[in-house]
Amino acid sequence: MTAVSANSDALDPIAKHARYVDPSHVKLLGILGYGRVYTRAQGVWLWDQKGNRYLDLLAGFGSMNIGHNHPKLVAKLNQFLGSEPPNLCLFGISPYAGDLGERLAKLAGEPLQHTIYTTSGAEAVEAALKLARIATGRPEFIHAKGGFHGLTLGALSVMGNPRTRKLVEPLMPGCHEIPFGDLPSLERELARKKAAAFLVEPIQCEGGIALPPPGYLKAAAELCRRAGTLLLLDEVQVGIGRTGNMFAFQAEGFVPDVLILAKAIGGGLVPIGAAMTSAEVFERAYGSLDTYGVNASTFAGNAMACAAAMATLDILEEEGLLANAAARGEQLLQGLARELASHPMVRAVRGRGLIVGIELGPTDKGILNRLAPWLVSKASRSMFGHLAALRLLERGFVTLPTGHEGNVVRIEPPLTISESEVASVVQAVGAVLADYQSLAPMIKDTTWRIGQQFRSGWSID
Ligand SMILES: Cc1ncc(COP(=O)(O)O)c(C=O)c1O
Repeated sequence: MTAVSANSDALDPIAKHARYVDPSHVKLLGILGYGRVYTRAQGVWLWDQKGNRYLDLLAGFGSMNIGHNHPKLVAKLNQFLGSEPPNLCLFGISPYAGDLGERLAKLAGEPLQHTIYTTSGAEAVEAALKLARIATGRPEFIHAKGGFHGLTLGALSVMGNPRTRKLVEPLMPGCHEIPFGDLPSLERELARKKAAAFLVEPIQCEGGIALPPPGYLKAAAELCRRAGTLLLLDEVQVGIGRTGNMFAFQAEGFVPDVLILAKAIGGGLVPIGAAMTSAEVFERAYGSLDTYGVNASTFAGNAMACAAAMATLDILEEEGLLANAAARGEQLLQGLARELASHPMVRAVRGRGLIVGIELGPTDKGILNRLAPWLVSKASRSMFGHLAALRLLERGFVTLPTGHEGNVVRIEPPLTISESEVASVVQAVGAVLADYQSLAPMIKDTTWRIGQQFRSGWSID
């Protein structure tokens, strides 16, 4: 064990992070060459400690919908703090929680009336799972392969990817995975009448920006209704305007039994999560005083988080950011599709609004793709996605492959992005991918970069 030295102030931020926070994280950034120390953020821009500027295409994995440190949000929070509010009001009523609850209920529409507050997305998922068990009296859950719902033990139990799940098993029993977008599998699981809920994302983000077939969610909601199972919709990453609607379900012609939100509601500055449901479901679960307090958490619904959320919703409305997400999303999708149409290793460009994925892998173009598609697929998953993201970083664009599908590069900027900034993203992606028309330059570049990082002692800029 490393002793805590008296003069640790002398350590730079990277060494301090490695010593006191997460050495593995620092090591990984060093191996891959992603390492930067970011020191400033404003709007769509990030700056590192050397003064380099980057266009943020990750946006805190969908948290910075109004951009970094939006001046109106900062002003509202300063004003809020200056008013000496009781931030935690656990023994009484905070007007802030009710104001935000009313606003969210109006935005989500009937019958989603009640909001259970949390401080993260995973906790909001936990709240939804508990609500479903108590309301239905059933023990089991159905979830989709490829899904991501957070990293608490309950959320991991319904994680659609074995890697993180396996490390901490045994998890919650009775969680059944079905293919995403497949109604017959859902119908078969529902027929057992054991499932309290079906938990699903409208667009699987970490699952590779995967969109279900048109009409899937509406049909799934109807199947769930008939089976007495609740549909829990996880909009933690795509909610709050990202798809061009305030909530993604609003473009699908149905309303979920529970709507799960987090990330962007707090404007990227204040943590907050929410599970919204109808008066009927809320009453079934929590109508009796015996169930009071089952969702309590010290900072859930704190006044500052609610004030930040109200200001964030104001900004989204005042600045027409939903319309901008739809228009810039279309520009991005069409621009990338045009730019990458004949690329031999781009399988698809897909998304909705400002959540867009570029899937890399074998196509029907070129001899290698035809002779050894498995090799191209393996190389795309293990290195091409990261190589593309790294090359974009070097050109001043921050992005990453999706969590479960390493061959899908995501483009997920703040909703404030402008037309010319989107054009610059399309141009940069086109230029980077143009260098990798086959496996040879991809393998050469990856090996060279790892070698360079090794020679520099896995350095971070
Ligand atoms: C769809 C989805 N659900 C849940 C979560 C978990 O949210 P949090 O990281 O706030 O716990 C995430 C986080 O990325 C997510 O993308």
